Amino acid sequence: MLHAPTLLDDAGNASIATAFMMSHHAFRRDLARFAAALLAVADRNPDKLAALREEWTKFAGALHGHHHTEDTGIFPMLAKDHESLRATIEGLTADHHQIDPILERGNRAFGSLPGAGNDARAVIDELSSLLDPHLAKEEAELVPHLRPMKGFPPPANAEEEAMYAEGFAWSSRGIAPEVLTKVDEMLPDGLRARLPAARAAFEERWQRVWGPVPAGSATTPIPTR
Ligand SMILES: [Fe+2]
Ligand SMILES: [Fe+2]
Repeated sequence: MLHAPTLLDDAGNASIATAFMMSHHAFRRDLARFAAALLAVADRNPDKLAALREEWTKFAGALHGHHHTEDTGIFPMLAKDHESLRATIEGLTADHHQIDPILERGNRAFGSLPGAGNDARAVIDELSSLLDPHLAKEEAELVPHLRPMKGFPPPANAEEEAMYAEGFAWSSRGIAPEVLTKVDEMLPDGLRARLPAARAAFEERWQRVWGPVPAGSATTPIPTR
């Protein structure tokens, strides 16, 4: 992509746009890891295969959850305020409907590894082909409207706070430290307090499934490695 927006705004501040694009970064990062891992899936021992299956389940859940947030929150909010975005949003919503059945196929394929390696590879290829233009379109057309939203809404309860902490830990890996400092400042106190432990737990999860792959240092939603 030629013109990926920066994660922080022109004044160097984080916003909801930053959190939104950190998820996009993590989807791209993980799709590349799945593609690489599936090339050598027959070499994985049972523990590594189980970790890969579990990671797929979490990835599919995160992608479905991201779409749900867009379909029920971000898209209606933007469509209401910006008539000119409505056609774009209709197209993006249609993409989400195309992606759900691919996730179902992914659930079956990853559940049958290593035998269904070809199916799993096809799923990752199709998802990457659909998501590349989809994520880029959201970043080009929706992100400017999310920049003014500077605060992250306080979670409703401890369970939701723990869920957001896990999500931020997942989407933080590979993001430049100076961006994470600004993101952490934006978060409610309780959520921010949970992040060190959540990030340490995610690092263990990462090592289990992907091994010692060094983190990048992205300042845009495009992974740097
Ligand atoms: Fe989307
Ligand atoms: Fe998105």
